[in-house]
Amino acid sequence: MIFGRIKPLDAILATAEKKSLARTLGPVQLTLLGVGAIIGTGIFVLTAAAAQKAGPGMMWSFMIAGAVCAFAALCYSEIASMVPVSGSAYTYTYAVVGELLAWMVGWALILEYAVAASAVSVGWSGYFMGLMKSLTGFELPQALAAGPAWSMNGFIPHADFSHGVINIPAIFVALAVTALLVLGTTESARVNAVLVAIKVAALTAFIALTLPVLDTGNFSPFAPNGWFGPEGTSGMGVVGAAASIFFAYVGFDAVSTAAEETKNPQRNVPIGLIGSLAICTIFYLLVAAGAIGAIGAQPVLGLDGSVVAPGSKGFADACATAAHAGDLVCSNEALAHVLRAINWTVVGNALGLAANLALPSVILMMMFGQTRIFFVMARDGLLPEKLASIHPRFKTPHIVTMVTGVFVAIAAALLPVGQLADISNSGTLFAFFMVSIAVLVLRVRDPHRARPFRTPMVWVIAPMAGLGCLFLFFNLPVDAQMVLPLWGGVGLLLYFLYGYHKSHVARGVVETHEQDPGIPPQPVPPMPGAHTPGGRDA
Ligand code: ALA
Repeated sequence: MIFGRIKPLDAILATAEKKSLARTLGPVQLTLLGVGAIIGTGIFVLTAAAAQKAGPGMMWSFMIAGAVCAFAALCYSEIASMVPVSGSAYTYTYAVVGELLAWMVGWALILEYAVAASAVSVGWSGYFMGLMKSLTGFELPQALAAGPAWSMNGFIPHADFSHGVINIPAIFVALAVTALLVLGTTESARVNAVLVAIKVAALTAFIALTLPVLDTGNFSPFAPNGWFGPEGTSGMGVVGAAASIFFAYVGFDAVSTAAEETKNPQRNVPIGLIGSLAICTIFYLLVAAGAIGAIGAQPVLGLDGSVVAPGSKGFADACATAAHAGDLVCSNEALAHVLRAINWTVVGNALGLAANLALPSVILMMMFGQTRIFFVMARDGLLPEKLASIHPRFKTPHIVTMVTGVFVAIAAALLPVGQLADISNSGTLFAFFMVSIAVLVLRVRDPHRARPFRTPMVWVIAPMAGLGCLFLFFNLPVDAQMVLPLWGGVGLLLYFLYGYHKSHVARGVVETHEQDPGIPPQPVPPMPGAHTPGGRDA
């Protein structure tokens, strides 16, 4: 019975205990860690897509998505502090509800991490092209700087190449980050701290320059597409924008993953999680208010007057007209565009440069997380073990890293940033949903086990988190929703063809590899201002 294939929690914990990382992180460091992992393409780029969906009402969207993340974060922390090992939600699910669902969660995490890395690569490309154009006047032909626009014809995806064919800069950055990972680059604590400072400084400058020129008239109509978008559209309106802009908050799980390295986790983990989410929410709301107030954020209508989704052909056609050339919603580098539009060209370029410097570190963290999840799955026998082989010189899981990098580059080359983010969100919401269930299952099944961090009011918070994830999932565009069952179907097929037979747990081999001498660094991101054991501070 495959539901009986549970990896014993005790075996996992025994190794984790032996590992016993030094508890060095305080609340401030933890909060900084969260802010570093969270701020990225979401605010720098997807603000434009959110505005196209919701108009100025995107301010509500930021609040709704932030609230769902806060609930999910509290559930994540309890399990992360109980099962402080690599593999994230995949490992937790293996220990709690068994192999089949663990495989499905691991499979969904590919959407979360790898597709998110693609989304951030495309975001980087937009800022890179904008900066090039502003500084040197050089522009790549649009066909080479954007992927095609996609639509679904029933179940058949259809590509329209009239506004883009392939995104070369996105391929470049994805492969460059892959090369760094193969060579064994992990971000040093100092670099991370500098990048956090750069991102925060860029957003602060944006707020300081836009709020004084705020025109309250730009806030009306406030929600031109209503809460759920007009009849016949999907993923539009304030709630549709919340489902997309959820992407801007992804990454906070970095804080819960660091629970085992935190002093007094019961107090500091929630401070770090809620603190970093609250800081980002405040920044995001101020940035959104600044952008709306400075140049307006009304959605563009299609050439036939219809409501059009960002990334669609109708949207690209409308944005190609001279009337919309300066609109926020049409920009690939929303924040830099706003600053240039209010005549702060130099600061706009500096913000573009800040995005270009800081976004690769978000790609690096995402791809790093992805390779380590693949690595753990291969070590469990659910993927070919060859994938887990370590490069003799660089001591990195080079094969799995290269496979991931090629996948990330292809997706980044061919899809627009908004659709990538939506697909990534569908996988992330599924994983978060499973975590919110797992936390309750464990409370019932294993009530006495030590919990360094306990979710407060768990019987309220966990159901809220689960329902919040479902709510956002069902308000993603239908195409992005469909990706999850299709992807899941492929995953199931693979499981029954391969993992089901090869699984180590099924063969009675219970192994945890946390202590292996040759194991590459695991996915706990670098800590600002703290030395992390295990070579991650290299
Ligand atoms: N939250 C991260 C970003 O917005 C994934 O780039």
